[in-house]
Amino acid sequence: MEIIEATWIFGVMLAFAAITPPALHYLKGKNFAASLQFPENQPNSPELTIVLPVRNESIVIRDKLDEIVGMEYPMSRVSILVLDSASTDRTGSIARQHLKKNAGEASWKIENVKRPGKSVALNLALDFIETEFFVMMDADAMLPPSSLRLLSRWFQDPGIGAVCGQLDSHHGSRGHPYRSRFNVLRVGESAIDSTPIFEGSICAFRMSAIGHSRINSGSNADDSQLAMLVRRNGFRAIMDPEIKFFEPDSEYSVEKRSRRVRRAQGLSRAFWANRDLRSKNYGAYASIFSSQLYFHLIFPWLISVSVVSILLPIFFGLLEFPDIGWHAVLFPGAILAMGSASRTCRGIFGGSLILVHSHILLLSGRSLHIWEPDAELRLAIQRNRRES
Ligand code: GDD
Ligand code: MN
Repeated sequence: MEIIEATWIFGVMLAFAAITPPALHYLKGKNFAASLQFPENQPNSPELTIVLPVRNESIVIRDKLDEIVGMEYPMSRVSILVLDSASTDRTGSIARQHLKKNAGEASWKIENVKRPGKSVALNLALDFIETEFFVMMDADAMLPPSSLRLLSRWFQDPGIGAVCGQLDSHHGSRGHPYRSRFNVLRVGESAIDSTPIFEGSICAFRMSAIGHSRINSGSNADDSQLAMLVRRNGFRAIMDPEIKFFEPDSEYSVEKRSRRVRRAQGLSRAFWANRDLRSKNYGAYASIFSSQLYFHLIFPWLISVSVVSILLPIFFGLLEFPDIGWHAVLFPGAILAMGSASRTCRGIFGGSLILVHSHILLLSGRSLHIWEPDAELRLAIQRNRRES
């Protein structure tokens, strides 16, 4: 009887204790988000290499190349580097034919990479890039024509090593209110110092901020790995809320579980591998980093334990029902009902389960750094581009 009571009370207290540090971090970030200082427009357009890693992207590759070539940026200053990792759907030759006809003033090159994995390809690209700045994009991200101009203006500030855009959270449907909170937090972190979590869909880097460092090619979250590396080398890595990328406004904008688990795993690994960035040497970034490390590695387990501690008494209470009395079931039941009525709580709990799942896969030796593109999503993108 008492132990039942004690269990759910412990669960509730644990949940509150666990959520307090991330909640405070979020509030701090939200407070700072508006103070991000934007640069002036860049008077001279720096030379850019556009790195486009692809594997089996035959559905979207032509549209993506057209989107790049059509951007508001002097194409004579742009060189496109397509990194094709052993596609089996002719992505490489489709890209070659398309660029031959449509590249205009942009120069271009297609590299074939034998070993699959985006991080492998990216490390290889880092050896090829000849310009001081490069932009990386996902084949399936839809970008407005201003993207290159908005990215490159940041590099007038020699302290900025990396910039990324953000998912347009008003554009999509269900999954996105949660993403918009993350967006606010990342901009806040950028205003304070840097954000460790990046968007590979559209991001740009200063080569000298990377230097001879490379990312772990056996792990994913290549984008966030690079952002952490840039900060480690003493430069800032920021998210610009004016640079948006889109995903189709369809049921596919609700992210698939497998993709979320893969990304969660990549991020968790990156936080663990870079855990020394919590050191005081990194100034305000140390606390941003610690907070995100806690949120990705420890918090999901605490929340899971807390939910189990609230569920168990309900379960046993129901088994022993008449003897134990209704209140043993009612109080924890009411708390769970309130929690699941709140969208934020559901989002936090769902995200925690994804992270726990990704950790278990990792501990059992399953790395998710090689994956197949989501064909349904790509068909939706194609329809979306044709319609607009
Ligand atoms: N060269 C190469 N080799 N490119 C690849 C490979 C590969 O083995 N696998 C995927 N890519 C390319 C895709 O063709 C696409 O252009 C881009 O990497 C992103 O792949 P998606 O299939 O669209 O994955 P996502 O939407 O979940 O991407 C997000 O998470 C990834 C890490 O899990 C983005 O943030 C990516 O930038 C990030 O790498
Ligand atoms: Mn994608």
